[in-house]
Amino acid sequence: MGKQGLGKQRQNKPRQSKPGVKPEAKLKTLDRTLSRAGLGSRTEARSWIGAGRVAVNGKKIQTPDFWVDQERDRVTFDGRPLVARRKTYLLLYKPKGYLTTYKDPEGRPTVYDLIPDVEEWVFPVGRLDQDTSGLLIMTNDTALGDFITNPESKVAKTYLVKSSTLLTDDQLDHLRRGIELSDGSTSPALVERVRDSGRYTHFEITITEGRNRQVRRMVEALGAKVLKLVRVSIGSIAIAGLEIGKRRELTPEEVSGLFGRAQASRGRG
Ligand code: URA
Repeated sequence: MGKQGLGKQRQNKPRQSKPGVKPEAKLKTLDRTLSRAGLGSRTEARSWIGAGRVAVNGKKIQTPDFWVDQERDRVTFDGRPLVARRKTYLLLYKPKGYLTTYKDPEGRPTVYDLIPDVEEWVFPVGRLDQDTSGLLIMTNDTALGDFITNPESKVAKTYLVKSSTLLTDDQLDHLRRGIELSDGSTSPALVERVRDSGRYTHFEITITEGRNRQVRRMVEALGAKVLKLVRVSIGSIAIAGLEIGKRRELTPEEVSGLFGRAQASRGRG
C-alpha cells in the first residue's frame, strides 16, 4: 500500500480515502471528527473545512472526507486543538412530530428544538421516525452511539404499538420468528399482546436491530398499519417518570449498563 494508504498506520500521517478501501473503525472523516468533538453539525463542519479553518498535523485540509486517525492525528480549528469535551448523555422523550435531524429544510421542528440550552453538541443515537414518540438517547460519546446502533451489540429496544387491525396469535408469532423485509429477514423478536380494543391490537415488541422504519415495515408485512408507535425502553432504561418533550441526564450506572458488563467501568469521561 502506498504512502497515503490505510495499511501504514505508524506514520502519523492523515490518509486520503480510497474508493473501495474500508477504513479502520478509529478512522473518521474530518467533518465527522469536528462534529463528534462537539463543535457543531457535520454541515457546519464541512463549511469550516471548505473555508480553510481546519488543519490536520499542521497542514490545512479542505476536504471534508479526509480520513483522520482519532488516536494519532492532531486536528486544529482556527489554530486551536480540538479538546475532549465532557461526555454528555441525555435521555429525551421525543414527542410525535419532531425530526431526529439537526435542521429541516422545510422548517419542521427537530429534537434540537427541545434542548436549546444544552451546550455540548450531542447527536441522536439512531433515529425515530417523525411520527414515533418515545426514548431517544442524545450524546457526544461516539463509542456509546456506535455500540447501541450496532445490531451485534444486541441492545434491546422496546416499542408499544397500536395496529390498525386486530392481530391474530399467528400474526404475532410471525413477528416473533422474523419477517422477510426488502433488506432481509428480521431477527427474532419478543412480542407480547397488551390488549385488544375494538378493532385494534396493542402489543409490545422488543427488537435488537434498528433498521429504517423497521417496526412499521414488519407490521405492514402482516397487512396492517401502525397507528401509534412509542419507544418505551432502550436496554434497561425505561420511559417511566420522564414527561413528553422533557429530558434528563443518564446516570453513570445507566451508561455503564447500556455498554453491558464488559465495559461496566465506563462512565463519564
Ligand atoms: N421502528 C419504526 O418503524 N419506526 C421508528 O421510529 C422506530 C422503530
